[in-house]
Amino acid sequence: MTFELRDRTVVLIGGGSGIGLAVARRVIADGARVVLGGRSRERLDGAVAELGPGATARAVDTADPASVEDFFADIDTVDALLTTAATYTVGSFKDLDPDAARSPFESKFWGQYRVVKAALPKFSADAAVVLVSGAASVRPAGPAAPYVAANAAIEGLARGLAVELAPVRVTAIAPGTVDGNLWAGRPDEARDAAFAHIRREAVLGRPGTEDEIAAAVVHLFTNTYTTGSTLYVDGGYALR
Ligand SMILES: NC(=O)c1ccc[n+]([C@@H]2O[C@H](COP(=O)([O-])OP(=O)(O)OC[C@H]3O[C@@H](n4cnc5c(N)ncnc54)[C@H](OP(=O)(O)O)[C@@H]3O)[C@@H](O)[C@H]2O)c1
Repeated sequence: MTFELRDRTVVLIGGGSGIGLAVARRVIADGARVVLGGRSRERLDGAVAELGPGATARAVDTADPASVEDFFADIDTVDALLTTAATYTVGSFKDLDPDAARSPFESKFWGQYRVVKAALPKFSADAAVVLVSGAASVRPAGPAAPYVAANAAIEGLARGLAVELAPVRVTAIAPGTVDGNLWAGRPDEARDAAFAHIRREAVLGRPGTEDEIAAAVVHLFTNTYTTGSTLYVDGGYALR
């Protein structure tokens, strides 16, 4: 069996930047069409302008179930799906107030859950879903218990959905720290500390790139004998 990306529809919610945009570049080069989603129209328009005629985009907020339903309403078929969209607070069990502590679950876990649910009627028989977790699921970098737990839950969701939705394949990707758009938008002090930590602790001694994560996502989209697995693309961070 094979899964060719040519003429397929790849939905990338959060694809206006970062890892999602890097996946868009790769799958368009392989002949797919992409539908990007995100909250900022300006960001989406910039991505579509860069990607060319193979790309379209529409605004969506994964926090809003009606918005997610609307997003899929006029998409006929979904062949591959990735949701990097998430907005949350990372902090310690001791310090976070209840809303902030819930935010990784509310945004990253339930956001992806509702996207898969809304896409369900549109999946082709051999569709592939890649959920996004993070290597913190198995190796917390510091005090961040709610974020760690939400990532572990996402990996569990991939296993559960792999069983329920087969032959649709469902996997999870767990990036380590990536030198890209997400960290560029965080305070210098936090970024410097995170990059110093990954340089010290990862076997490969550096942060990853968005394109390295994207290459692994494309592998999970197209490998027809992988489902339920979590792929750690973390430079060996989880090994130490
Ligand atoms: N980068 C890393 O080091 C790293 C490491 C481990 C895990 N991850 C995971 O990777 C994901 C982030 O991907 P990224 O690194 O590519 O970051 P990114 O560039 O910030 O991408 C996130 C995208 O999602 C969109 N978005 C955010 N909240 C949204 C919402 N509620 N509804 C719709 N769109 C939303 C953002 O656009 P708008 O603001 O315009 O909506 C943005 O384009 C997160 O799940 C993160 O936990 C990243």
